[in-house]
Amino acid sequence: MSIQQTDTEVTLSIGDKASLTVLLYGATVTSWKKSSQEQLFLSQGAILNGTKAVRGGIPLVFPVFGKPTDHEATSKLPQHGFARTSTWQFLGKTNEVPGEKISVQFGLGPEDISDEAKSQWGFDFTLVYTVTLTLDSLTTSLNVENTDSRPWDFNVLFHTYFKIPEIDDVAVTGLTAVRVADKVLKSSYVEQTEKVTFNGEVDRVYASATQPVSIESKGTPVFHIERSAELKDVVVWNPWTEKAEGMADFQPKSAFHQMVCVECGSVAEWNKLNPGSQWTGFQTIKSLL
Ligand code: BG6
Repeated sequence: MSIQQTDTEVTLSIGDKASLTVLLYGATVTSWKKSSQEQLFLSQGAILNGTKAVRGGIPLVFPVFGKPTDHEATSKLPQHGFARTSTWQFLGKTNEVPGEKISVQFGLGPEDISDEAKSQWGFDFTLVYTVTLTLDSLTTSLNVENTDSRPWDFNVLFHTYFKIPEIDDVAVTGLTAVRVADKVLKSSYVEQTEKVTFNGEVDRVYASATQPVSIESKGTPVFHIERSAELKDVVVWNPWTEKAEGMADFQPKSAFHQMVCVECGSVAEWNKLNPGSQWTGFQTIKSLL
């Protein structure tokens, strides 16, 4: 059991059975290994030097998802907000069960974000991000606190890039009968299928999904995701050929075959947080591989 810290990242390990690396830039989980097997997709072109959001792992989306044009308070912010492009503080270890489990925390406040981000949003806040590694699971939990004297709105999302053997064989379950905003078809409908499969670009926001979500490969579940009631929305994304071509940091271009993003969050509606109030949402991903 150990924690190793450098200037740029923190690595947790439970012997040689499980490990996790978190980049301070974005508090981005860049690697999660179970029995030496990597569980997350990280693009070979991902930029890890703190100049661009990481293409892979688990970037944190806050306080805005996407780039909505109709919400004044967040309209100046870049896509997916500033949490993924700010350098977080490592707060240390919070829990440990030797040989079984280890938790650490990271924090972000106005003093950690750029002047540009401050001028684009301008509210006081505290984020505390807790990551917990066990032998077969990873829990990410975000606590959001409004330390301002004014109320503010936010979206939040764990933008998890799962590593999968082959997208043609993958299905996402648990989204049946959920209303979808489909960004590719530019339409909204209720999901009819029990298994969401992929044969082209998929970019969908499933709103108010209540069931746990699983990722299957060739009909066998490989990841199971449980989440707290606060994370009611699920985004499913695969860029496929054309979008992958358009992202300079997506390498190799064929790597969309080996990834799928299944992103738990609260993004379909704004969360309003009053001064002094807090909000917490978490997901637990179990690797069944
Ligand atoms: C997904 C969005 O969550 O993130 C997509 O639904 C977007 O629309 C994708 O393309 C990646 O975003 P970015 O900013 O990391 O390129």
